[in-house]
Amino acid sequence: MNLRKRIFSGVQPSGNLHIGNYLGAIANWVKLQDEFESIFCVVDMHAITVPQDPEMLRKKTIEIAKIYLAAGIDPKKSSIFIQSQVSEHAELMWILNTIAKMPELEKMTQFKDKTQKGGSESAAVGLFDYPVLMAADILLYGTEVVPVGEDQKQHVELARDLAKRFNQKFGETFIVPKAFIKEEGMRVMGLDNPEKKMSKSAASEYNYISLLDDEETVKRKIKKAVTDSGSEIIYSDEKPALKNLINIYSSFSNLSPKEIEKKYTGKGYGDFKTELAEVIIGFLKPFQEKFNALSDEEVLKILADGATKVRPIAKAKLDEVKNKVGFII
Ligand code: TYM
Repeated sequence: MNLRKRIFSGVQPSGNLHIGNYLGAIANWVKLQDEFESIFCVVDMHAITVPQDPEMLRKKTIEIAKIYLAAGIDPKKSSIFIQSQVSEHAELMWILNTIAKMPELEKMTQFKDKTQKGGSESAAVGLFDYPVLMAADILLYGTEVVPVGEDQKQHVELARDLAKRFNQKFGETFIVPKAFIKEEGMRVMGLDNPEKKMSKSAASEYNYISLLDDEETVKRKIKKAVTDSGSEIIYSDEKPALKNLINIYSSFSNLSPKEIEKKYTGKGYGDFKTELAEVIIGFLKPFQEKFNALSDEEVLKILADGATKVRPIAKAKLDEVKNKVGFII
């Protein structure tokens, strides 16, 4: 019997996956897969809560899976699958919809952020309901730990609340999951605006470094990254842009922020930025080599195998839930 605790996490196949997604989430998964029974999902059903081009969505779904694999997720240790290939997610979501409350979804900051631009009148119901689908993803598998970046904390809280509410109403059914948010990399900020997180859906490409950016692009983007007033390399809350760049430098090197400060004493932003770009490229190069060596066919096979592996877990939990709420199964 497998007594290891289970982790579950996912990424949406929309936009360009960036170093924030890597540092905030995927890098941690790679470490955790040795300790936990790990399930990693490409959440295409979440992606369609905003308009997607169907062909592009298929392409991005495979791309995300390749990114998981190139980053070091090992399909022998972890299950990787596509959310829409396990229909239990949608079914459990419907049942959880009946215990989730409107005000708890209304207060979700990500929904508020995403509808700020277009207004909530144009938002799809699915965008509003998105955190309930995420709760279904997590609860279906008896997940104990959810490794995510800080921006997903509120969503994991909702999953916890729904698990407790369901258990109270229908008897012990769901494990109450915990978010796992690592201090370093938990919130990588935009290169063009250190007040806002680095985002796949940012309007400007100068907001992020994509995991698939080439050398020249990385250099150009780092050169253009905003910095604070002054010329010294200081790690401080008063210099949020520089602090963000030092955090990125630190995450991709073995140096702590203090060591980086020391290394650049007496040097200016120019030297710092040139070497920061090199540190990032030093990570991206071997990563992209692995990415490029993966064929669509082998990745689709890994995803299909992953779905076959996790489906029985999802079905068993869904049957238990259906039985508890009074469905005839
Ligand atoms: P998504 O696709 O927006 O982001 C994927 C992961 O990357 C993290 N992340 C960041 N971390 C640090 N700095 C940033 N700037 C940054 N931007 C993104 C996110 O926190 C996330 O961990 N709803 C989720 C996907 C999801 C999911 C789940 C996650 C669906 N079901 C179940 C965990 C469990 C999302 O949209 O992530």
